[in-house]
Amino acid sequence: MNLNINIVVLLVVSFTLLTCFVTGTLAQQPVACPGYQVSNLQTTSYGYTADLAMITAGPYGNSVKALTLYVVFHTQQIIQVKIVDAANERWQVPFVNQMGALPTSKPNLIDYTIRFAQTQFGFSITRVSTGEVIFNTSPPSNCSTNGLIFSEYYLEITNQFPQSNPNIYGLGERAAPLRLQNNFTYTIWNRDQATPLNLNVYGSHPFYLNLNPNGDAHGVFLLNSNAMDIVMQPNSLTYKVVGGVFDFYFFMGPSPASVIQQYTQVIGTPYMPSYWSLGWHQCRWGYKSVNESKTVAENYAKYGIPLETMWNDIDYMDVYQDFTLDPVNFAPEDMTSYVGWLHTRNQHYIMIIDPGIHMNDSYEAYGQLLENGAFIQQPNGVAANGVVWPGSTIFPDFFNPNIQDFWYVQLEKFHQTVPFDGVWIDMNEVSNFCSGNCAPVSQSGDQVGSYPNNPPYLPGGLPLDTKTLDMSSIQFGNVSYYNSHNLYGYTEGVVTANSVISLLNQRPTVISRSTFPGTGKHHAHWLGDNQSTYASMALSIPGILNMNMFGIGLVGADICGLQGDTTAQLCARWIQLGNFYPFSRSHNNNDTIPQEPYVFGPEVINITINSINNKYTLLPYYYTLFYLAHAQGDTIVRPLFFEYPADPNTFALDSQFLVGPSLMVSPVLTENATSVDVYFPQDIWYDYFNGSRVDLSQGNSLTLAAPLDVINVHLRGGAILPTQPTADYQVPDGGIPITTNISRTLPFTLIVALNANGSASGELYLDDGITLETYENKKYSLLQFNAGTDGSSTVTIQLTVVNTGFDMSSLIVDKVVVYGVPIIVTTVNVNGTPYTTLTYSSTLQTLTIESLALPLTSSFTIQYSN
Ligand code: NOJ
Repeated sequence: MNLNINIVVLLVVSFTLLTCFVTGTLAQQPVACPGYQVSNLQTTSYGYTADLAMITAGPYGNSVKALTLYVVFHTQQIIQVKIVDAANERWQVPFVNQMGALPTSKPNLIDYTIRFAQTQFGFSITRVSTGEVIFNTSPPSNCSTNGLIFSEYYLEITNQFPQSNPNIYGLGERAAPLRLQNNFTYTIWNRDQATPLNLNVYGSHPFYLNLNPNGDAHGVFLLNSNAMDIVMQPNSLTYKVVGGVFDFYFFMGPSPASVIQQYTQVIGTPYMPSYWSLGWHQCRWGYKSVNESKTVAENYAKYGIPLETMWNDIDYMDVYQDFTLDPVNFAPEDMTSYVGWLHTRNQHYIMIIDPGIHMNDSYEAYGQLLENGAFIQQPNGVAANGVVWPGSTIFPDFFNPNIQDFWYVQLEKFHQTVPFDGVWIDMNEVSNFCSGNCAPVSQSGDQVGSYPNNPPYLPGGLPLDTKTLDMSSIQFGNVSYYNSHNLYGYTEGVVTANSVISLLNQRPTVISRSTFPGTGKHHAHWLGDNQSTYASMALSIPGILNMNMFGIGLVGADICGLQGDTTAQLCARWIQLGNFYPFSRSHNNNDTIPQEPYVFGPEVINITINSINNKYTLLPYYYTLFYLAHAQGDTIVRPLFFEYPADPNTFALDSQFLVGPSLMVSPVLTENATSVDVYFPQDIWYDYFNGSRVDLSQGNSLTLAAPLDVINVHLRGGAILPTQPTADYQVPDGGIPITTNISRTLPFTLIVALNANGSASGELYLDDGITLETYENKKYSLLQFNAGTDGSSTVTIQLTVVNTGFDMSSLIVDKVVVYGVPIIVTTVNVNGTPYTTLTYSSTLQTLTIESLALPLTSSFTIQYSN
């Protein structure tokens, strides 16, 4: 900072221990860059308010001359900075924020300091403990970036980085490497496009996480639903937004995991999914009849492959109309019996619903929606329209309170014939095969090249109505679609989840393509249209990691790839990887070769069975992670830097990932590879499958064998994993391969991976897997596992029952396997009694104690001596 340049008064507000004003100085140009001047800075019960008056206009006209600044100290780590028009007339996102109304007091301790530059408005936020500047909007003296710009259709603000090329993650949705590029413009605007590299796709998440190389992370969330570009430069990040207000939340972390916990305090933590939705799902576009669908389910059983859920794409509908059935190929009585048949096998059924309602006078839902009135309108009151699968369509207005009734009634009526278990909501960006009002009855008066489809600044460079509705359309409450477009999928998801709750009185299983911050509180997501390529498979890893950072826990990519023909090898690799996604579904396009695992012959069948067994064996661990996500905003899958934030080798690593804190997955992502390069952060690591310790004496990067039937998975020392192994499950006569309702009853095996101190810990959350709000109503059981020594050579493994709201009386721990046991073990005591059913492997240095039959309901102690 150049101290020779004019000095203006800066208010330094320090709240570390004392709440007081300190007058400081800040050097900058007095009035040069476009921007605002501060006056009337007031202390309030929650923080500050101030007036901002425009001094120099921005480039796109219609400047808002008077603004109000609000600063809200929410918690020790969360501060909100909001800049709105003084008249308070502009669009603001009406939901999402879970923090409630303005607090009436400030937290006693805060980890941040906010400073304001007055003459040329800017603010900076600093981390108290280290002095790290988190966000700084004061323009440089040469005005190489602007000050605040706030005009009718264009808002701009720039964050000057204290250090070049920071590690930035997030800013979705897009198919892109995990660590974002420092010289790239990221557009945020929901668009139906088949995941082109780096471009904006189905959802909008204006959130980023910044990781300082010292391991401290912070997060920045802009709560704004308008189209925007985020211009990343080595030294700055500029928001260029075409509407709404600036409503920023800053999360001080300092760990990456705590940033997401803090972010989900604002947008809501992930919902608790139904247990069955974690099972294996089979879908494709192109199951042309109920018989074909049923044959797929039968083939699964025939080849011994577990199957939890069958899906139908738009094929089932009568001329692609929602809530109807093709009378010939998916006749109502056949569908009723097919779904009933799946249910008798403890399998589930999900079908697709698109938002577009066909403009067809003889289509019941169309008439009912017109009567209900809750559809998106053109400015003249006529329904806004577009073209989707059935042809011309209108679109339900999910802002309108009346839509809940319409949507529920349609689903409920359909459910009487097709007793579905979940709903797949697609095309909800909203997707439109043309742009704007293009159905035959179009009444669009919009002129090309003007607002609202072409505002003066155009994020992403394409008209905003490209492949969606005309931006002049209106939603309930006179909300312009220009402002609400990015919220369509989110609102459809909430209304659909509410309808499923009303209908089934169970946790909803709703999978949506379009998302917004807060989606994860209500339902799940898949990553949309990918390709049957190794590159697409590799990009699914940053895809699922990002969604977990965005608070969406249950997420997966189309396994084996959607577009283009897959191959047996690609499919095998993807099935191995995909069974570590939180949500595991194979899905395929209508014009490609079949890719059900059994079509590729015995080798892929075996790989699939093993992969699904891996997932089901680990479901207690996954489900416990979902509990931690729901209860405190943790991620299910996470990048390695979440656990090793000061290790620079992890910063851009997205070919490996962690499930929870302890399980590292390193899949093969290239064709014909029979080995994989794996990076091991400094720690103790074991082969998850056999317990052998990884030898890192020659370095932390190893090339490991990975023949086609092997996926490398490693367990971190210090973890106790609760598992329910399924591989030995014997299918009863006339039965089918395992489903999750059975896997959840099997005996538990605890895998105890000792760390350098000879200790480990873990936990297990159990509930009935389907009832609403089991966590909130304490209808769950929680168990804590610990292993350690008291300094002697005796290792003690203990189970402690923490909560008993769920009946665990039929559940047992039958086996304990300890990884990292260097010396032969001969003596084991279980609850004080000598026990001999054990095996010690000196090659692997593992101890296996079997046939324990210890009830989960009581605490137990197992001891062994080295
Ligand atoms: C687009 C979806 O992304 C895809 O998964 C689906 O198969 C097609 N629509 C057809 O419904």
